[in-house]
Amino acid sequence: MKQRQIAVVTGANRGIGLEICRQLAAKGIRVVLTARDDKKGLTAVESLRNEGVDVEFHSMDVTDEESVQRAADYTMNRYGKLDILVNNAGIGVDHENTCQNIDIDRVKEILETNTFGPIRVCRTFIPVMLKSDGGRIVNMSSSMGALSNMNSGSSGYRISKAALNVVTGMLASELKDTNILVNSMAPGWVRTDMGGPDAVRSVEEGADTAVWLATNETLPTGRFFQDRKEIAW
Ligand SMILES: NC(=O)c1ccc[n+]([C@@H]2O[C@H](COP(=O)([O-])OP(=O)(O)OC[C@H]3O[C@@H](n4cnc5c(N)ncnc54)[C@H](OP(=O)(O)O)[C@@H]3O)[C@@H](O)[C@H]2O)c1
Repeated sequence: MKQRQIAVVTGANRGIGLEICRQLAAKGIRVVLTARDDKKGLTAVESLRNEGVDVEFHSMDVTDEESVQRAADYTMNRYGKLDILVNNAGIGVDHENTCQNIDIDRVKEILETNTFGPIRVCRTFIPVMLKSDGGRIVNMSSSMGALSNMNSGSSGYRISKAALNVVTGMLASELKDTNILVNSMAPGWVRTDMGGPDAVRSVEEGADTAVWLATNETLPTGRFFQDRKEIAW
C-alpha cells in the first residue's frame, strides 16, 4: 500500500498558506501547518478541525535556524520522510522603497524572511525529503519578482522574490539527480492581510497553483508558474 504523503507549509496560520493546508489535507495528505506564533498556529489548526479538516501544528519561524531544525527533526522522527514543502511565509510589501531612495535595513529584513528563510528551510528539510519517493518544493514567489516584468517601488520585496527565483533555479540544478522537483510560483494579487481587501483573487485561487505543483503527477523542475502555466522569469 502506498504510504500517506506528508506536507509541511510555512507561514500557514492565515492567508494563502492556510488555504494551501486546507486544499492539501482535502486530498488526504497529512499536513503539518507551521507558524512562528504558536497561539496563531494552534488557532488556525482549530479552525480547520472545526471544518472537519484534520491537520497538525508545529512551530517554525523561518528566520530562526534552531526553530527550523526543530521542525525538521520533528518531521523526521514522526514520519521518517517529507514529500511536499511549501515555502509560503513572506513579508512586505515596501511600496515606498525605490532603488534611489531605499531603506537598506528594511530590504535586509525582507530578505531575511522571503529569501534566506526558504534557503534555511530547504537546506534543513532536504535530507528529510530525500527519504521520500518523490519530493516537491514549492517556493511562493511573486510576479513582482519577475525580471521580465520589472517595475519601480517595493524594492525589498521585488529583490527578495527575484532572489527566491534564483534559489529555485539553483536548487533544481543541485537536485537534478534526485527525485525532488523545485519550482517557483506567483499566486496573483490575492485578498489576504498582505494583498488587502481590493485584491482581485480569492485565497482559493491564490493557493491553487501551489497545490497543483505539490501534487500533479508530471512536472518539470526549476520553472516559474502562474495559473498552472509556465511564465517568464
Ligand atoms: N497576497 C498577495 O497578493 C500575494 C501576491 C504575490 C505573492 N504573495 C506571497 O504569498 C505568500 C503568502 O502571502 P499572504 O498573502 O497569504 O500573506 P499574509 O496573509 O500576510 O501571510 C503571511 C504569512 O507569513 C507568515 N510569516 C511571516 N514571517 C514569518 C516567519 N519569519 N516565519 C514563519 N512565518 C512567517 C505570517 O505569520 P504572522 O501571522 O505571524 O505574521 C503569515 O502567516 C507570501 O510569500 C507572499 O509574498 C502574496
